Amino acid sequence: MTATLIDGKATGAALRARVAEAAETFGNRAGRPPGLRVILVGDDPASQAYVASKEKVGRGLGLDSRVERYPADLPEPDLLGRIAALNADPAIDGILVQLPLPPQIDPQRVIAAIDPDKDVDGFHPVNVGRLVAGLPGALVPCTPYGCWILLRQTLGTDRLDGRTAFVLGRSNLVGKPMAQLLLAANATVTVGHSRTEHPAALARQADILVAAVGRPGLVTADWIKPGAAVIDVGITRVDKPEGGYRLAGDVDFDAARAVAGAITPVPGGVGPMTIAVLLRNTVVAASRRTGTPVPDPVDLLL
Ligand code: GUN
Repeated sequence: MTATLIDGKATGAALRARVAEAAETFGNRAGRPPGLRVILVGDDPASQAYVASKEKVGRGLGLDSRVERYPADLPEPDLLGRIAALNADPAIDGILVQLPLPPQIDPQRVIAAIDPDKDVDGFHPVNVGRLVAGLPGALVPCTPYGCWILLRQTLGTDRLDGRTAFVLGRSNLVGKPMAQLLLAANATVTVGHSRTEHPAALARQADILVAAVGRPGLVTADWIKPGAAVIDVGITRVDKPEGGYRLAGDVDFDAARAVAGAITPVPGGVGPMTIAVLLRNTVVAASRRTGTPVPDPVDLLL
């Protein structure tokens, strides 16, 4: 058996098309486009590439999406002051501070300073609490929400219900919110991490396996229950002998493909979903904040 490929490129493109429609509807009703500000402190090359892409894709979909760049030695109070100004700006719906931040800045203090209703990353404690408690209005972190969309699209609603899920990784960015989304969808969820004993045996019980630890090839075919849905969040740059690098997932794709029922490739799986979800979160935040009715692009997709 060869697993079905879960095509994040196609689903990401479909979601972006829905976001563009929603942004246009919002613009017609509110008299301005949804506004997103992405703050980059310092010049980390990977972060530079990510934020440039967020700005460009956002603009292409009709958002007022802009990067603000600050030097690596920006004092924390200056950053907090800028966030306060964006919180108070009625034309701004989404604020994202790119992580990691330089050492003089406490990321938790920065995240906590963002208006929760503009926190399109879903990292603010209020949004974490809304997700865990099942309260309305949660903005959910982009990468795990993108994984959840791919799973819903692949399996349908009913097939998450009562299924066993194993989430490998417990980061605040991916593992923990992923586990909460699966729990909210009535899956039976186990979270594995670096101290977990016998992770392969636990993983092998799971109808749904999400790997998010950034260790290339850790998940081998013997971790996978035959027919399981496998979502690979890992994207690690691995140097090639001839120079340059390739992107490697946490799952040994070629071996896993023979066992799984459905699997995301790397690249082309989860990656293309993240920015699409960020822009979806921004349009939804714009709609909620201003009381402007706009259909949720994710509802139109699933
Ligand atoms: N750095 C890597 N991924 C992310 C993300 O999703 N949001 C933010 N703010 N920073 C990141």
